[in-house]
Amino acid sequence: MSNNQHIVWHPTAVMKADRQKLNRHKSCVLWFTGLSGSGKSVMANAVDEKLYERGIQSYVLDGDNIRHGLNQDLGFRAEDRIENIRRIGEVAKLFVDSGQIILTAFISPFREDRKMVKEKFPQEEFFEIYIKCPLNICEERDPKGLYKKARSGEIKHFTGIDSPYESPLSPDLTIESDKISIADAADLIIHELHTKGII
Ligand code: ADX
Repeated sequence: MSNNQHIVWHPTAVMKADRQKLNRHKSCVLWFTGLSGSGKSVMANAVDEKLYERGIQSYVLDGDNIRHGLNQDLGFRAEDRIENIRRIGEVAKLFVDSGQIILTAFISPFREDRKMVKEKFPQEEFFEIYIKCPLNICEERDPKGLYKKARSGEIKHFTGIDSPYESPLSPDLTIESDKISIADAADLIIHELHTKGII
């Protein structure tokens, strides 16, 4: 809702249902959450690829990439992370309205923020996927060398080190990325989308 009482919502000529009909599948958000290095982006991209192969309209929004553009003004203090997630929630809503399946790969460390995003959608349009991986394994993987920098104090407010990660209490799906292959996990998610009648 706008804070400005003089801004009025303009209804669209083509509705979400029309776009879904054109695409021959429903639209929704697959919201991946988990520690840095847990495998959110890799997983989201693996699912995206499988959807693409099936001719399904989908797109990945990834924390590292979005922070190069739309959210380049945001850092990693709590208030910035809250704003990061709020904006992504709004962008995700636009994608769902455009008839696509949007996969978001953000740490999104705070339960309250994830709840706030979830509440923007009807239940059947939002799926929280917890990419669960023990901190020590993420730290061992350290794909970008950031954990090392966080441990040495070069990076402050690093999730899992000196900034909290609140794991989901009732996610729609939990993927233990240290126990299952990326391909199997992607198949599992595609299966869920079938089961829920999205694709
Ligand atoms: S979120 O917490 O606001 O959801 P987001 O997913 O956008 O985070 O960005 C996380 C990515 O930024 C990490 O994968 C990592 O590559 C990088 N990064 C840089 N500094 C930090 C930090 N202090 N904490 C966590 N991630 C960081």
